[in-house]
Amino acid sequence: MSDFLIAPSILSADFARLGAEVDAVLEAGADVVHFDVMDNHYVPNLTIGPMVCQALRKYGVTAPIDAHLMVRPVDRLIGDFIEAGASIITFHPEASDHIDRSLQLIRSGGAQCGLVFNPGTPLYYLDYVMDKVDVILLMSVNPGFGGQAFIPGTLAKLREARARIAASGRDIRLEIDGGVSAKNIREIAEAGADMFVAGSAIFNAPNYAEAIAAMRAELAL
Ligand code: DX5
Ligand code: ZN
Repeated sequence: MSDFLIAPSILSADFARLGAEVDAVLEAGADVVHFDVMDNHYVPNLTIGPMVCQALRKYGVTAPIDAHLMVRPVDRLIGDFIEAGASIITFHPEASDHIDRSLQLIRSGGAQCGLVFNPGTPLYYLDYVMDKVDVILLMSVNPGFGGQAFIPGTLAKLREARARIAASGRDIRLEIDGGVSAKNIREIAEAGADMFVAGSAIFNAPNYAEAIAAMRAELAL
């Protein structure tokens, strides 16, 4: 895997042909499958759960699956996603009653763990768990839907998160999710992100390989 990871969000895929869609983006050069889990409670939308993750594994997907849990409560689903083959599991700290416990549940199940920050959620939730996270995911839109516009203030927040990672001395991925495209990916990377979720910019493009190549070209400049 390269230093920069491209993670298409299957939220914008054709769910009726999900296996083929995942194959297609991986063949087109994606590194990670971003899997958005919404519960119509923590966020105002309803998507897919562990059974679908397991079905993708059974179908033959071997790439890392990045389960982004937009659910409350969190813990009940963690074990299910581990059993279903998720490689990375992230959750929103304000949706968990016991952040440290949720992180431990993910770790002890053998997956990588991380916290997700909505545009209005402060980074101080990281203060006492920096030594326990593998990934920090910053939302650059309010969660619930694909196809929204990138919130510019996220760039300053990325810089702050990158500084926290540098100060920790740990190798922590800084993931960005929402409104990412070839048009803004370079400034997002310059602000410190190294893992890029993109839903509509990839799945709504006529050619997935070209869409991903356009992003990588910006990152290589
Ligand atoms: C939003 C999801 C995102 C979404 C991104 O709640 O977490 O992963 O699918 O979609 P785009 O890239 O279209 O903003
Ligand atoms: Zn997401």
